[in-house]
Amino acid sequence: MSVDARELTAEASSLAAQATEAIAAADAEELAGLRSTLLGKSSQLTSLRRSLGKLPPAERPAAGRAVTEAIASVSARFESRLAELGERKLRERLESERLDLTEIVEQPDVGRLHVVTQTQHRLEDVFCGMGYEVAEGPEVETEWHNFVALNFPPGHPARDMYDTLYVNYGEPGSTLLRTHTSPVQIRVMQAVPPPLYVVAPGRCFRRDTADATHMPVFHQIEGLVVDKDISLGDLAGTIEAFTTAYFGPGFTSRLRPSYFPFTEPSAEFDVARPDGAWLELGGCGMIHPAVLEVCGIDPEVWSGFAFGFGIDRLAMIRFGIDDLRDFWSNDARFLEQF
Ligand code: PHE
Repeated sequence: MSVDARELTAEASSLAAQATEAIAAADAEELAGLRSTLLGKSSQLTSLRRSLGKLPPAERPAAGRAVTEAIASVSARFESRLAELGERKLRERLESERLDLTEIVEQPDVGRLHVVTQTQHRLEDVFCGMGYEVAEGPEVETEWHNFVALNFPPGHPARDMYDTLYVNYGEPGSTLLRTHTSPVQIRVMQAVPPPLYVVAPGRCFRRDTADATHMPVFHQIEGLVVDKDISLGDLAGTIEAFTTAYFGPGFTSRLRPSYFPFTEPSAEFDVARPDGAWLELGGCGMIHPAVLEVCGIDPEVWSGFAFGFGIDRLAMIRFGIDDLRDFWSNDARFLEQF
């Protein structure tokens, strides 16, 4: 068979054109089979290359270049189509697996306990961990439980410390909003025989004008222990244990002599922050024998201590809040921080 260089060159470019069309029309599956059909050992382009040898030597270089170019261009088309189909497949997969994140509903904000309530619960936990039980008493109290039983005789000057809000009920002056949680001491001691280890948290009321450090409504937690051989050392140790348990290591406590009619001796207790600053927290002391007697407990057999401090004040110290009124503001930006 005689071979003509011009024919061979024309054939190469027409094969290349056909192959280009076939490649462009192929889908991913067809493309896999096309490679051997178009470029494999038994493909038309390969046999065309083989027939180059039959050309007169002078014509071979030009015809050879034409065939090589045809093969190179088909194989380049092939690769680019392969890449194009691969990309499309990836895009389709991404599209089909796409998650519409705008559909995800935001977690509704269900609210939380108020920071003072959280503080109260933590305090209860700390004392429960030390073996105490939690007791409660009424917010509307008798003058007898709030003052008389606690050794404040009528007209006693110590009553002046408590700006009392009286309730118009019964004998004038006989009913009031409790000015402290100490009347719960009386209620517990009258109801339950010793030994007693009790804390009593709750709201208290005084006729105060609201400012950064005073509120007519505030929260206290009362502690009461009645047992045999209870000493002032037990009281100091309890306050110190509570201080570390609640505030963490680095905080210490101290007692300063003070006066309350229902404790003897009486003290104020302060807490020192790690930076050395002392903050006044509350009052405490050994239960006065007269108070034990009023509750039917023999002071020759039993002794005890009591303490009481402001929960709001504790939360202020712990969270670095400098205005009591923030607790009452109902400002979500403040409340959401806790
Ligand atoms: N009830 C006292 C107050 O509110 C504090 C206190 C409680 C003092 C218990 C001694 C013992 O000021």
